[in-house]
Amino acid sequence: MNLVEFKSVSKRYRLGELEVTALEQVDFAVARGDFVALTGPSGSGKTTMLNLIGCLDYPSDGEIRVLGQPVNQLDDRSLDRLRSQTYGIIFQNFNLIPVLTALENVALPLYLHKLPKSEMDRRAHRALESVGLSRFTDFLPDQLSGGQRQRVAVARALVTEPKLILADEPTASLDSASALSLVELMKNLNREQQVTFVFSTHDQRLLSHVDRVVELRDGCLMAAADTQLHAEADSTAMATGESEVA
Ligand SMILES: Nc1ncnc2c1ncn2[C@@H]1O[C@H](COP(=O)(O)OP(=O)(O)OP(=O)(O)O)[C@@H](O)[C@H]1O
Ligand SMILES: [Mg+2]
Repeated sequence: MNLVEFKSVSKRYRLGELEVTALEQVDFAVARGDFVALTGPSGSGKTTMLNLIGCLDYPSDGEIRVLGQPVNQLDDRSLDRLRSQTYGIIFQNFNLIPVLTALENVALPLYLHKLPKSEMDRRAHRALESVGLSRFTDFLPDQLSGGQRQRVAVARALVTEPKLILADEPTASLDSASALSLVELMKNLNREQQVTFVFSTHDQRLLSHVDRVVELRDGCLMAAADTQLHAEADSTAMATGESEVA
């Protein structure tokens, strides 16, 4: 079964008199074990698509199913439960709490799962170990490098053992060496622990390290999208930014 399925999904935003089409009839699926990069120029719909995959927003048209359930038919409580049991999220700016140690930051999502303290610690230690930060459990975010902070954020996304980890430009705040090493880390977690990832990126250099690339332009999946390795980059469009106003 697919974790997430889009059938002819469109998303429109209303801005006063204007209607902005952010996604246009997108068909898409994420299967267990996938490692997917969403790419495309600024304004092409990547964040919109991640928000819809994560059930943070509803489509204007079309159907989204998560674990086989049509999300439009779920009430708020069922949707909350589905979200907390399905997703882990890595934020672009890490979103770590400065006064908590790496271990405490990683354990945070487990408070919602009402586990005993010893079990929370055990899981947080294991998550930090899987991102190579066992030695840094007692460090505060300020005492870590950008790349290490983002690894803590990955551990925090992993700690609830989600079915799918979503990340909107997780490498945007990192230098290129740290960005590449973050993608390598996610890929290893995908290969070794079958963690499913969908993340967006502007960075064409990272795409050669990803086996499934989904490219958006003006809210549409490119005809040749969702294939192996898109080498060509439209750097002009990326530099200027594009958006569709219908
Ligand atoms: N809340 C909103 N209200 C109105 N328009 C919106 C809203 N969110 C997104 N849009 C519009 O939808 C389109 C897609 O935006 P989105 O944020 O998904 O693009 P993106 O690919 O993530 O861009 P970037 O690479 O700059 O993050 C854009 O034209 C944007 O202006
Ligand atoms: Mg975005």
